[in-house]
Parts: sequence; C-alpha cells; structure tokens
Amino acid sequence: MSEKKYTLAVVPGDGTGPDVVREGLKVLEAAARKFSFRYETVDYDIGGERYLRTGEVLPDSVVQELRSVDAIYLGAIGDPRVKPGILEKGILLRLRFELDQYINLRPVVLYDARFCPLKEKTEKDIDFVVVRENTEGLYCGAGGFLRKDTAEEVAIQESINSAHGVERCIRYAFEYARKRNKQKQVTLCGKTNVLTFAFDLWERTLHRVAPEYGDVKTDYAHVDATCMWMVKNPEWFDVIVTDNMFGDIITDLGAMVQGGMGIAAGGNVNPSGVSMFEPIGGSAPKYTGKNVINPLAAVSALGMLLEEIGEPAAATAVEQAVRKVIREKLESLSAGRMGYSTTEVGDLVVKYL
Ligand code: IPM
Ligand code: MN
Repeated sequence: MSEKKYTLAVVPGDGTGPDVVREGLKVLEAAARKFSFRYETVDYDIGGERYLRTGEVLPDSVVQELRSVDAIYLGAIGDPRVKPGILEKGILLRLRFELDQYINLRPVVLYDARFCPLKEKTEKDIDFVVVRENTEGLYCGAGGFLRKDTAEEVAIQESINSAHGVERCIRYAFEYARKRNKQKQVTLCGKTNVLTFAFDLWERTLHRVAPEYGDVKTDYAHVDATCMWMVKNPEWFDVIVTDNMFGDIITDLGAMVQGGMGIAAGGNVNPSGVSMFEPIGGSAPKYTGKNVINPLAAVSALGMLLEEIGEPAAATAVEQAVRKVIREKLESLSAGRMGYSTTEVGDLVVKYL
C-alpha cells in the first residue's frame, strides 16, 4: 500500500448533486480497495440550502481550507429558489477563480453509438476533448450599467483576455494533445472575423508557441463553424482550445453528441494547484431524491479526479467500467429511462471495476 493518503473535499451541492456524488464515492471506495490507495473525504455543506438557511454563499474560511486538499469533488450548484447568478458566481466561479483553475477540461466521448443523436456516427467518430479557458473572458464580471433602469440604459460586459491567461491555456492544449497521442491536433475555436482583438491575441499566441510542439498540428475554426463540424464531422476534432464563453456553449453541444448530460464530465484544473471535478449537467431539480438521475457523469468526473491526483490506473479502470455499464446494461442515458435506478447504476460500476 502506498504511503500517500489523499484528502478530498466533497461538495455534494444542490438538487441531484448529492444523489450522484454518493455513487461516485461508492466507486471511489471500491477503486481505493482495488488499487491500494488511501484517502479521506471532508464534506462541505455549500449550496442553495445553506444559502437559504443562513445567508452564507461561500465562507472565506472554506476557500482557505480548500487550498490545502488534494482535489475537490463537486456535485452541482444551482437552486431554482435562488436568483440566478448568486450561487453560480458566488460558489462555482469563485472557486474556479480563487483556486486559479484555469483549465476547464471537458472530454467528449461517445461510449455507445446507440445513444448518439447523430445519424451514422459511431464510437470511433466522437472522441475529442475541449480545453476551455476557465478564469477569464466574459466570465470575469468586467463591465457594468450606465443609467440603469432608465430608457437610456447601457449594459456593458467585457471579455478579458490576458497574454498570460491565453498562453497557459494554449500550452495546456498542446501538452494534452501530445499526451493523448491520437490525432495530435489542436484546433483553436474562435471568431477572428468579428472579435478581432480577443481572438487576434489567441491566434497569434497559438502560432507563436506552436513551433515548440512540432509534433502537434494546429487548425482553426470559427465558433459557429465549430458547432457545425461537431455535428457534421466530429471525427475531425482531437483537442479543441477556446475561450471561456465559447467553451461553455460548445461543451453543452458536445454533451449532446456524446449521449446527453447524464454522461458529460469535466474538470476545473489547476495543473500546479487544487483541481475540482464535476458532472457538467447541473442540479436537475425535478429529479432530486428520486433515485432516477444518471450518476455516470459524476462517476466519470471521479475518474478524471483520480487521473489528476496521480492514480492513472484507477482512473482508466473507472472509465472502462463506465463504458461497460453503458454498453452492456443501460437502455438509455437519460434520467428515469436507464432501466436501472441511480444506486443500481453505481453498483454496476463497482461490480465491473
Ligand atoms: C458550466 C456551467 C457554469 C458555467 C454556470 C453554472 C456558471 O454552465 O460549468 O458549464 O457557465 O461555466
Ligand atoms: Mn455550461
């Protein structure tokens, strides 16, 4: 048994977050047994419930504590009873920013062609990853109102793109393409024909660092065309690198082509700090506590967490078990239609691990 003992912060959060995190933790326990690593979890009660109960969104002391864990495992943030933005900005975005998780890594993998909405596309066609910049762009909150609530109101929301932020994101994409070792191609997704400042910086940076990664090809697609190709020819993509807003949008499309939100996982990564892993589907309030939500996105997120903390064999095993459950058992990837309950799907992953 290795000496190392991981400390993992667990934030089940809102809605179905706790339902899916519970299954992820079951898989974690099984993986630890099988791959002989030790861990402890520290639970954090953060989210809509706590906010409504106490008025607290995210105490500074919690942010401070999270700085010293090995990774964070997050269920979902978002509660229909709370005004949009309070929890999302106050918890999710604040953690991404304060922990400098500058990469949002979102794999788009089709595990079973039965669940692909695209005609004639199979598992071999859909296997790429989106490297989304995660700390800048339109998400910074730069801007404001002029003459608010008058007929002459002006609302400004600016996209911040720093040379440092863009370069580290692009470098990560190159490194990732190398490590993936598939097509070895980085496609910049931008809008150089209209956003002639922001994506000019992105494009120049891409071309400036590309020679350092001579084994990796580069490509470019406007964001609208990227959406088209993701549907028409998803097999063209290997690693897509893009800004925060475009990355947010195209990864929901990515989730759909891989079979739906029930299976889409992501990581908020700080390569030299604390990273946070989550299913990207949100809190799905109408399914809360019904034992019908698909936990596999959360289980896949746990797999990504294991890879990041340094348990690659366990990570691969989790991914393979997820794939096997989908291919051999599930009737659908959608809540309530899987042919199994949330807990049963978690049990199946454990069994196949
Ligand atoms: C995501 C989500 C968040 C985002 C929201 C909840 C703030 O949509 O993780 O993709 O826009 O980044
Ligand atoms: Mn999103």
